[in-house]
Amino acid sequence: MKTYIVGNWKMNFTVGESSLYLHKLLAKVHAARGLEVVVAPSTMALQTLSLQTDRRKIKLGAQNFYHQDFGAYTGEVSIAQIRSLVDYAIVGHSERRYVFRETDKDIKLKVAAAIRGGLTPILCVGETESERTFGETADVLRDQVLGGLMDVAKEDLTKVIIAYEPVWAISGHGSVKVATPLDVKEALTLIRKTLYETYGKKALEVPILFGGSVKSLNAESYLSIPGCNGLLIGGASLIAPEFLDIIEIAKRVKNERE
Ligand code: PGA
Repeated sequence: MKTYIVGNWKMNFTVGESSLYLHKLLAKVHAARGLEVVVAPSTMALQTLSLQTDRRKIKLGAQNFYHQDFGAYTGEVSIAQIRSLVDYAIVGHSERRYVFRETDKDIKLKVAAAIRGGLTPILCVGETESERTFGETADVLRDQVLGGLMDVAKEDLTKVIIAYEPVWAISGHGSVKVATPLDVKEALTLIRKTLYETYGKKALEVPILFGGSVKSLNAESYLSIPGCNGLLIGGASLIAPEFLDIIEIAKRVKNERE
C-alpha cells in the first residue's frame, strides 16, 4: 500500500503565498514510488496551484466542498467545480465538525459526492478530549467511520482514505497534548477492525492515516506503527523544512519496511 503525506494548510496563505510555497516544495520533492504527497490549500488557490503543480510529485486536495453539484447554495463550492483541480478531498475534519457543526449526515453525503466525482475522500474521524475521558473513544470512532461510509457501496470502499485525528491532539486547537504511538496504534486497530467486521477483506486495502501535532521530530514514531499508512499534517505542513523532512522520513521508513 502507498504511504500518504498530506499537508492541510487550513485557512493560511494568500494565493500568492501558496504559489510561492508550492514552488519551493516542487524544487525539493522528487517523485518516489509508493509515496503520495498531497497538499490542501485554500479553495481560492486551487486553480493557480493546479496549473503550477507537477502531479507526479505533489497532488492537490480540497479542504471542503458541498455535496450538491450546482444550485442555489450561496457561498459553497462543489465537487463538479473543483474536480479538475484536485485528486483528493478532505471530509469531516474536526474543524468542520465542531466549528461549522457538520454532522455525520453532512459528512456521508460529502464522502459519496467525492467518490461520485472521481476524487478520493480523506474521511477524518477522532474523539474529543471529553469523549476520551468518558471512555467513549471506541464508540465515537465506530460511529464516525460507519456513519461517514454509509452511502459508499462496498465495491467503492477502497476509493476512501481514513484519517484518525484525535481532536485533543490537534495543535491548531491550542492543544498541548500529543498522542503516543500506542494511543494511535490502538485507535488504528479499532478502525481497521470496524472496517473488517463490516466490509470483510476489502478493509485491508483502505489506507488509514494519523494526524494531530505531527512534526519531523515525531513523524517516524507514527509512521513506524504497523497499519499506519501515512500522515495528515496541519501546522508543520506550513513550514517548508519541516514538511520536506517529514516526506524524507516517510520515504526512509517505507524503504526500511520493504
Ligand atoms: P496539526 O493539525 O498537525 O496542526 O495538529 C492536524 C489537522 O488538523 O489535520
